[in-house]
Amino acid sequence: MKNIVKLICVAALVSSSSSWAAGGGGPLFTMHVDVHHQKSLQRGAKTFVNYCLSCHSASFSRYNRVAADLGISEQNMRENMIFTGRKFGDTMTVALTVDQGKEWFGAPPPDLSVKARARGANWIYSYLKSFYVDESAIRGVNNLQFPGTSMPHVLWEYQGLQKLAAKDDHHGDMEKEDSHGGGHGDSHASPFEIAVPGTLTPKEYDAMLVDLVNFLVYLGEPAQLKRQGIGVGVLFFLAALGVLAYFMKRDYWKDIH
Ligand code: HEC
Repeated sequence: MKNIVKLICVAALVSSSSSWAAGGGGPLFTMHVDVHHQKSLQRGAKTFVNYCLSCHSASFSRYNRVAADLGISEQNMRENMIFTGRKFGDTMTVALTVDQGKEWFGAPPPDLSVKARARGANWIYSYLKSFYVDESAIRGVNNLQFPGTSMPHVLWEYQGLQKLAAKDDHHGDMEKEDSHGGGHGDSHASPFEIAVPGTLTPKEYDAMLVDLVNFLVYLGEPAQLKRQGIGVGVLFFLAALGVLAYFMKRDYWKDIH
């Protein structure tokens, strides 16, 4: 009996600390994923091609598929989202080679096609929120979610630069943060404080990240946009078949009673 109690305690401990442990000790901010929010996906795609695709590829996806799935016209896609001489039917790759990536950044920027599935939406959301000024880091910034990361803080103009808040200023529990991407900017809930303001407010920056991560979740499984529609269709079909079967049964049995 004692052993069972011990086991339960250990299991509870492990599960309650897992969201913190996963990212090297940084707070795990949470967001609400909604891949059916087309406008959000469109905004996320725009941020992605402008700020991520220069280093990271998404080589499982083609521009034309993304355009069709997200309701973006071919012209809009060509004019605003395809750079570096790529074609509408091309996969979203980058010119950067693995060796260049290693040489320039220390670690090659990984392909982001299925990153949201591997890491989870909240992890990526937290990662992009957790860059902070750290004089001892090579790039002058570090990341609480992924300490020592070799990715620069590419969205710093929007977020601004944040530094770690004095220890007794933060009380930890990030899970309580507003889950709709409008982080409520409660400084007591955050281990960070803004040192240099960006062009967006913290709320607007969070909303930008929610769109971006939504898009990354979509990239991880484009079929999910269609899947639910197919499911509903199948249910309607089965219901119609059921009605038909009922009337056929009534018809077949009517002379037997
Ligand atoms: C200047 C190049 C560059 C740009 C632009 C860039 N990244 Fe990165 N990113 C990197 C590098 C390099 C790494 C590898 C970090 C490491 O392993 O230390 C990385 C790592 C990551 C990771 C962690 C992957 C993992 O699980 O190891 C994610 C997620 C990510 N980037 C997302 C993004 C997003 C989203 C954007 C666009 C807003 C972006 N990156 C823009 C260079 C870049």
